[in-house]
Amino acid sequence: MKILIAEHAGFCFGVKRAIEIAYEELGKGKKTKLYTLGEIIHNPQVVKDLAKRGVEVLEEKDLYKLSKGDRLIIRSHGISKKLYNFLEQKGVEVIDVTCPFVKKVQNIVEEYYKKGYDIVIVGDKNHPEVIGVNGWCDDKAYIVNSVEEAENLPFFERLCAVSQTTLIEKHWEEILQVLRRKAKEFVYFNTICDATQKRQEAADALSKKVDVMFVIGGKHSSNTQKLRKICEKNCKNTYHIESADEIMEEMIKEHEVIGITAGASTPDYVIDEVINKIKSIKGEG
Ligand code: F3S
Repeated sequence: MKILIAEHAGFCFGVKRAIEIAYEELGKGKKTKLYTLGEIIHNPQVVKDLAKRGVEVLEEKDLYKLSKGDRLIIRSHGISKKLYNFLEQKGVEVIDVTCPFVKKVQNIVEEYYKKGYDIVIVGDKNHPEVIGVNGWCDDKAYIVNSVEEAENLPFFERLCAVSQTTLIEKHWEEILQVLRRKAKEFVYFNTICDATQKRQEAADALSKKVDVMFVIGGKHSSNTQKLRKICEKNCKNTYHIESADEIMEEMIKEHEVIGITAGASTPDYVIDEVINKIKSIKGEG
């Protein structure tokens, strides 16, 4: 039996940084309550561990509960400009771990919106990152996630397009072809982050070579779901799992080459647990 790990897998730079800063903040031993706006990463194990240490997850609708001096961690997905203003007015201490790559998208959107461009965000309108980015152009962006949706856009004088950082490159290229025809003046920024691209390329390459492919990551993690989609195209025995507990003997017993990739929110120890579980089922542990 062979276990192959994708060349790029697991924690990306932005998530690693976010987690490190969160634990650093805990280590300061401050008395004021520490919250995160939404789960800090799409990883149930990490979220549980933070909860054990007293970190509470708040949804946006519950932000009114915060008091002056409370500390709130803004996760790597980022937030809207309006929300920063609201938190400032409330006197909340903001620990901002917005990924610098997401910050870059927010800055582009703000800049071009101010210059009078209409904004198109290519991505999932329900994803917190996209909702946050839209908040840098007064929530006026057109959000499209398919060629059809792009076709249905009106014609613009001046248009600026950006992508959700976790978009699949090919998907962006297809939609871009349509957007090019939709404006007199068109500027676009491929803001798909390097980490995403590398994970996707590595998952694509590996899933072509294996009998079974495990994609590890939170079930709600959009970048993990995309990795699963990529792998499914190449390997029919692709499983999206959150932890080693989900691996059943029948998934691997008749197979010899097993591939592993992991979403950007998956800590290394979860990947190690998966490797150990496979080895123990195969009697090689
Ligand atoms: Fe940032 Fe890319 Fe990760 S945008 S949070 S480094 S997937």
